[in-house]
Order: sequence, then structure tokens, then C-alpha cells
Amino acid sequence: MIAGLYDYLMRHVDYQRWFDYLDRILSARFPHGGRLLEIACGTGIMLEKLSRAGWQAFGMDKSERMLEIARDRLESFDHEALLFAGDMRNFCLREQVDVVLCLYDSINYCLDEAELAATFRNVAAALRPGGLFIFDVVTRRNCRYHFYEFYERDTANGLDYIRKAYFDYATSVQTNSFIVCQSDNPDERFEEEHHQKIYRLQTLKKILQSGTGLGLVGVYDGFSRRPGNERSNRVHFIAEKNENHSL
Ligand SMILES: C[S@@+](CC[C@H](N)C(=O)[O-])C[C@H]1O[C@@H](n2cnc3c(N)ncnc32)[C@H](O)[C@@H]1O
Repeated sequence: MIAGLYDYLMRHVDYQRWFDYLDRILSARFPHGGRLLEIACGTGIMLEKLSRAGWQAFGMDKSERMLEIARDRLESFDHEALLFAGDMRNFCLREQVDVVLCLYDSINYCLDEAELAATFRNVAAALRPGGLFIFDVVTRRNCRYHFYEFYERDTANGLDYIRKAYFDYATSVQTNSFIVCQSDNPDERFEEEHHQKIYRLQTLKKILQSGTGLGLVGVYDGFSRRPGNERSNRVHFIAEKNENHSL
């Protein structure tokens, strides 16, 4: 149900700035573009920008409803990006790609270290040797200061919603819960709860480098090339598929 609200909930996110950041990193390595997969692609906002920039883009998401919205978005400019349903913790591609992206802390939907390691291994298998994996996370500090106890009530796209966010510092789990109803039918309510595990950067580095087939290129503070740390709000990871990794 919140798929219908997603773009509204993300209205504060500057996807163009985000695209520009990715574009600087990617065009240094792949000046002529290439094949790219975005896992947890949501409603396809970034996929549209990447496709328009000439990437042969594929999108995967667990939610069919998010994919439907992504499909409408991409069809509206007559682009045939391949979108498919899949779970990042358990997927494989028939043909390898040059780049895999996982944006807007979607990697945090991996709720324990085993799920995270499985996702990294699947990404390594999907990449050709030398290919790049870029993902980002929010830090515990960000969740503590901005989402410790967050409440919002609003209406968008004919839907009334209440959103509550809570960060449990002890378990390091961020919960976002939504109660949604059609504005013209307030008696029928839907509830949806999202859990994300907020990892320490050290843990992410350790798991990434524990034989997943990926090597760490850099860890950067929000949209910069400065080193990221636990005081950052958002941290971007750039990893590379090891040249000699065999599966
Ligand atoms: C915060 S949204 C981010 C969407 C998009 N990356 C963006 O930047 O707007 C998280 C997305 O992850 C998807 N997701 C959650 N768990 C997933 C999983 N295990 N495999 C694939 N997609 C997943 C959700 O359906 C949702 O579309």
C-alpha cells in the first residue's frame, strides 16, 4: 500500500544530486556506460535517470507494487528497462553486469550478518570481474538523532497515512510503521511495518571482505569523497568484484 505513497514520502530526496554523484564515479570507470543492475530499485526514480544517461539498466525489487510504478515511469519515456521481482538475499543473473547499485539504505533490509553476506555474494556473482558495487547506509547516529521517535500524519495521492519511526539503539533496528487508508474510505485501513538493521561501518567492512568476492574501494561521507565515519549521516560504499574471483 505504501508503494502508492513512496514518491511522496521521498519528496525531500534530491535524486538529481544523487545521480550526479554516481555519474562522476561511474563515468571515471565506464566512460561508455555499460550494463547496470539496481537491486531494491523501488519506483525506478534512479533507473530512469541512468537509462536516460545511456546505461542499459535493469531493476529488481521484492515488491511487485513498487515495480508496477517503476514500469509506468520507464514506459512513459518509451524505455524498455528490464524490471523483475527478486530478493537481493537470493538472486542470480543469467548474464553479468558492469555495475550493481543498492541505494537509499536498502541494504539495511538485510536483517542479520548472514543475509548481508548472502547479498554481497549474490552481487559478486552478478558482476563481471572488475565491476563495481555501490551502496549506501545510514549510521546509528543519524537514526538516533533524526528517527529516534518520529511521527507524521499527512495525505497524498488520495491516501491518508500515519507514519511512525522508531530506532531501538539496543538492537540497532530502525522500524517504520504505516497506517494507510483511502481518503474517501477511512474505515478500511492497511498497516505495514518495515524493519532495517543499522550496522556499524566496521561490521559492513568486515562482512564485505570475508570471502564474498568483493573488495573494498572506498567508504565515503554523504555525496563526497571524504572518508565516511560513524559521525556521518549517510555513508557510501564502493566495492569491486575481485578480478580472480571464481564462483
Ligand atoms: C527505501 S526503498 C529504496 C528504493 C530505491 N532504491 C530508491 O532509492 O528510491 C527500499 C526498497 O527495497 C525493497 N526491498 C526490501 N527488501 C528487499 C529485498 N530483500 N530484496 C529486494 N528488494 C527489497 C523495497 O521493496 C523497497 O522498494
